[in-house]
Amino acid sequence: MSKLKVLITREELAAKVKELGQRISKDYEGKELLLVGVLKGGFMFLADLVREITIDVNIDFISCSSYGNSTVSSGIVRILKDIDYDITGKHVLLVEDLIDTGLTLTYLKDLFMAKHCASVKICTILDKPSRRKVDLQVDYQGIIIPDKFVVGYGLDYAEKYRNLPEVYVVEEI
Ligand code: PRP
Ligand code: MN
Ligand code: MG
Repeated sequence: MSKLKVLITREELAAKVKELGQRISKDYEGKELLLVGVLKGGFMFLADLVREITIDVNIDFISCSSYGNSTVSSGIVRILKDIDYDITGKHVLLVEDLIDTGLTLTYLKDLFMAKHCASVKICTILDKPSRRKVDLQVDYQGIIIPDKFVVGYGLDYAEKYRNLPEVYVVEEI
């Protein structure tokens, strides 16, 4: 059996999302910004983040999954759904729920850079820097969390709990 314990409340999440939205609005003023949500986990953060951004933006999604077994990230990422439009010359901001090893975003960043965007930056609501396997620049870092298995606010445990509005630690009992 597993038990859930609140790690980050709605209020803490909302405050951080607001702060990130304000920074992004300022930094990208006058630029063509395309926000790319990384599915599935990034859906909730993206939806909240865009409501805190005060400049015009475009929104798209990419869906990807790592090969290999589920506990070890191989870094080889399979694209399940690609973005829809040509992004040449656009400023791309990848929007994630969590950075763990960093392998997913390293792969995605390289992929987007190869498409000749004006810039590619990274925004995540949760970050576990202690788990990093590759050096990755996180341009908009949300909340740093310890090396615990977390769910909620988009994050799943075997596809469950994505809808929870807070972030929880899963404890086996
Ligand atoms: C999770 C999370 C990130 C990625 C981070 O996605 O949402 O996308 O893992 O891990 P990494 O930094 O070690 O690469 P997951 O593969 O579980 O897919 P999901 O978003 O559909 O749940
Ligand atoms: Mn994900
Ligand atoms: Mg997952």
